[in-house]
Amino acid sequence: MHNIRKISDDLYYIGANDRRITRFENQHPVPNGMSYNSFLLLDEKTVLFETVDKAVGELFLENLAAALGDRKLDYIIVQHVEPDHAALIPRILELHPDIKVVATQKTFTMIGQFFGLDLGDRAVVVKEDDRLNIGKHTLRFLMAPMVHWPEVMVTYDETGKRLFSADAFGTFGAINGDLYADEYDVDFDLLPEARRYYTNIVGKYGRQVLALLDKVAKLELEMVLPLHGPLLRKDLHYYIDKYSKWASYTPEEKGIVIAYASVYGNTEKAAELLAAKLADLGEKNIRVFDVSAWHFSYIVSECFKYDRLVFASVTFNMEIYPAMETLLLELRAHNMQNRDVAVIENGSWAPQSGKKIRELLAEMKDMRVIDSEISIRSAMTHSDEAALGDLAKALAAK
Ligand code: FEO
Repeated sequence: MHNIRKISDDLYYIGANDRRITRFENQHPVPNGMSYNSFLLLDEKTVLFETVDKAVGELFLENLAAALGDRKLDYIIVQHVEPDHAALIPRILELHPDIKVVATQKTFTMIGQFFGLDLGDRAVVVKEDDRLNIGKHTLRFLMAPMVHWPEVMVTYDETGKRLFSADAFGTFGAINGDLYADEYDVDFDLLPEARRYYTNIVGKYGRQVLALLDKVAKLELEMVLPLHGPLLRKDLHYYIDKYSKWASYTPEEKGIVIAYASVYGNTEKAAELLAAKLADLGEKNIRVFDVSAWHFSYIVSECFKYDRLVFASVTFNMEIYPAMETLLLELRAHNMQNRDVAVIENGSWAPQSGKKIRELLAEMKDMRVIDSEISIRSAMTHSDEAALGDLAKALAAK
């Protein structure tokens, strides 16, 4: 049995879903699973684009065998060596010993590191703008270092006007039957997880993503084929615009993320009160997160989406509460920048969290901290409540 999908007369989807995975990269929750996309182009030469994660290796091999029929594989194009795509390379080399492997020089180094393989004369090293003719189709290779690893390239099929985009334009979540993004409710079903995927996996490398987008802008494009999630064939400008905003750390829209860390509910109360005061001032898109209840990846994603951020934390062991500190470190790691920010601290005898949060924010670029030092001693007082009102006005004025 196999589950291959026809994209065109000569191009097939042969990837697979993993719905048993709980954490992508052993870190990010993926309640909707993951898809690992692989494609087979059957021209005069046969070309495989990537393999898959080992979790779906057998499904992939079944699909590949069915799609190939009695043909042999001539080429595998390896755009990215991360094992969620490259795990089956050794098996492909065993099954197709004459195959040529097309990749960047760095990729071959990493294939050696991961798999102990020296490909010798099976290696075809490509550089920017190199082309490979395989019959009807000509494939052009564009370097995309740090989207998401240094060896990455993407491949433009000049004949089919398709971009095989590696991790770019991917998303968390399995493919639910429909292969194309336009068959989903994009804003509801796809975009939140595409944003969470981008911001947490590639978000650090905005400059490099913008460099790739510059190259993409010059291509005549009919389809984008990422390595995770549905394929894009309509409204490409919509996705490219989202990527441009994320990569340039530009908020998508006005809104306020309030992330709080609370032990006995007093800091939580301050966060809720601030949210209510903001709503009274007419603010929309107020997103309140208990950092202990939410995995940081969801909050990082929302911080990329909106223009104002509030961090409210109890002091814990003379530090920022651990889950809040993790969130801030993740934001710093992903180059979060260009936001208006407010800080609220709580401490029963020696409040420290505000100072420490500000120190972390100072290590990020252009995080404009609103001059409002709210330092709650255990539980809010009337003057704290008044200060929250002032803070709400200051945030609303941004
Ligand atoms: Fe989907 Fe960076 O691998």
